[in-house]
Amino acid sequence: MKMIGTHTAAFGMMAALSAMSATAQNMSFGADNFYRSDIVTVQPIAFPSQFQTTVVGNLFTRHNLTRSVSAPAIIVGHPMGAVKEQSANLYATKLAEQGFVTVSLDLPFWGSSEGEPRNGVSPDYFAEAFSAAVDYLGTQDFVDRERIGALGICASGGFIISAAKIDPRMKAIATVSMYDMGAVSRNGLHKSQSLEQRKEIIAGAAQQRWVEIEGGETQYTGGTINNLTADSPPVAREFYDFYRTPRGEFTPADTTPELTTHPTLSSNSKFMNFYPYNDIDSISPRPILFVAGDQAHSREFTEDAYARAAEPKELLWVPRAGHVDLYDRVELIPFNRLTQYFRANLVAN
Ligand SMILES: *[C@@H]1O[C@H](CO)[C@@H](O)[C@H](O)[C@H]1NC(C)=O
Ligand SMILES: *[C@@H]1O[C@H](CO)[C@@H](O)[C@H](O)[C@H]1NC(C)=O
Ligand SMILES: *[C@@H]1O[C@H](CO)[C@@H](O)[C@H](O)[C@H]1NC(C)=O
Repeated sequence: MKMIGTHTAAFGMMAALSAMSATAQNMSFGADNFYRSDIVTVQPIAFPSQFQTTVVGNLFTRHNLTRSVSAPAIIVGHPMGAVKEQSANLYATKLAEQGFVTVSLDLPFWGSSEGEPRNGVSPDYFAEAFSAAVDYLGTQDFVDRERIGALGICASGGFIISAAKIDPRMKAIATVSMYDMGAVSRNGLHKSQSLEQRKEIIAGAAQQRWVEIEGGETQYTGGTINNLTADSPPVAREFYDFYRTPRGEFTPADTTPELTTHPTLSSNSKFMNFYPYNDIDSISPRPILFVAGDQAHSREFTEDAYARAAEPKELLWVPRAGHVDLYDRVELIPFNRLTQYFRANLVAN
């Protein structure tokens, strides 16, 4: 009887699993967004931006870090609409294992960092958060303030480039699966959006300002679809698989799953005015390493930035990887190359 019971339960579970498989997450290539390391200590931190808003992050240090010798440090930025628990903590952990002091942070208006409205967009505040992290790290006595680098995933690649242009304390820059939020907001992916369509979006955001100033409800836009349908396009499915399944789903305190990833409609138009790659060549002679999957739907943003950047610059296409694959698939993410790059470029003067 017991045997039969177990059998029936096993069958029931298999049926449930196969019914789910159409939407279940894809954990291939070692997807491990929530990875924790046995040799790294994670400590919550908070520090002020220049505008006196609090930026919240995590500090990662290897257990055996010699605190009397100042170490090189790396700041890690999360994808747009995400929080530090998504991809940024993973990169920060892996780089801390290699002996770097690392910080992941929540961009202002997102996660635990201050800023109103929640889910707001301000490229200036986003860039400022990375300079504020340099302030924080550079005033720790176990960090060498001459050896601070920054790594941005997805949109944070663009935010870090915009920060680095005016903050030479960032000595080496890396971007992974970079998105230029300015270009994609203005033109769509692969320049699929016309000027007329752009103007409609801008007009919609402006109209929504009237609603909000008169006490109406906040509207949200963009981000990752909450529900898959038969018509959901491949790019939407790619993000859904990460943000809306246990593979990468994370809901910070004081928010709800339905609101995660979605910026406010009235602030999102700020991206129309964001040109992170203008003057990117002025970052030289500090180096930039651009990493993206050769299958990434976002390739154009890495190609454009790489073409415009001055030497020294490196471009690494990860074979067979798509855009979101490099958020969490540890068998595809080139952690060794990133480690070598920061070791070679965060060197004592
Ligand atoms: C899972 O993701 C990998 C990496 O993007 C991809 O190669 C593979 O085709 C995906 N599998 C399914 C069943 O979608
Ligand atoms: C610290 O730990 C790492 C990883 O376990 C090891 O490779 C390294 O040699 C250690 N360093 C010191 C100074 O003990
Ligand atoms: C859509 O997904 C949300 C979770 O984000 C869920 O709460 C809701 O029930 C879903 N709606 C439909 C119509 O399936």
